[in-house]
Amino acid sequence: PGAPGFVSTGSLPSRDDVRAIIETAYARFREERSGTVADYIPVLAEADPAAFGICVANTQGDAFALGDADGTFSIQSVSKPFVFALVCDALGAEEAARRLGVDATGLPFNSIMAVELRADRTTNPMVNSGAIATTSLVGGANAEERWQRVRDGLSRFAGRTLTMDERVYRSEADHNQRNAGLAHLLRGYGRVYCDPDEAIDVYTRQCSLLVTARDLAVMGATLAGGGVNPATGEQVIAPDTCRRVLAVMATAGLYERSGSWLFDVGLPGKSGVSGGIVTVSPGKGAVATWSPPLDAAGNSVRGQLVTRFLSEALGLNLF
Ligand code: DON
Repeated sequence: PGAPGFVSTGSLPSRDDVRAIIETAYARFREERSGTVADYIPVLAEADPAAFGICVANTQGDAFALGDADGTFSIQSVSKPFVFALVCDALGAEEAARRLGVDATGLPFNSIMAVELRADRTTNPMVNSGAIATTSLVGGANAEERWQRVRDGLSRFAGRTLTMDERVYRSEADHNQRNAGLAHLLRGYGRVYCDPDEAIDVYTRQCSLLVTARDLAVMGATLAGGGVNPATGEQVIAPDTCRRVLAVMATAGLYERSGSWLFDVGLPGKSGVSGGIVTVSPGKGAVATWSPPLDAAGNSVRGQLVTRFLSEALGLNLF
């Protein structure tokens, strides 16, 4: 399982132990209600704060799911590492890094100041500015072709055809002025690589793809296994791309909380404003959680607690 030669740091505990540990985590955090559901995109405010799903997938093709692990939500920022992976595979990781940047900003995900602070105006693919630039590098003659490539690529990570939530897309497209501002600013600096309105449209569609915690676990396990999807056996991206993507997730996946995340959890992760978090244990598998209430940085509160618990109980911390 996993790509040949891709570094493996061991395996998950036995199936029975994994199942028991997830059940403990679920019971322990079932009543946790801290945080606030995102409302800057109006449709997101309708999310059920009680929704709670956990899924752990290993690189052998097993998935252990609990609670609302099959409930759907829009992927939002959890799409970012996967689109970055597609771009790295197409352009080469070094060229992608040169054009997008790979340094943490230490600032909120939608920061404009982050762009202004860097002499070369790059940020990284895990925050909105760098993610919009990443999407602008997806190949295609027009927005439709780029979008199909994003959707097909993310579907290969998930091992099933993902579809877009039209209501989320519409709602976000109607309230997307800040992202549009970022895209035009970056275009002015030569740091968005296609028409900025097209980049925003594809980026907004990308964020509106519907996924489940189970999908995110399989997507994460694909990164854990050197690019081989454990459910389908398809080599989705190159092993070297996985290393590069995981590095950027480790430094910037939880925005300005990325340092404290790595300190607590010891693994690369990526969060999104719908309440999803995917966390990757290289060689072993991935943990995905879904719980909509967020902290001030836009990261699921319960997802962080559960993942910290699971990282420790499953022995996943890299350090
Ligand atoms: O661009 C946005 O603002 C959203 N589509 C995605 C942001 C996001 O998920 C940030 N996450 N915590």
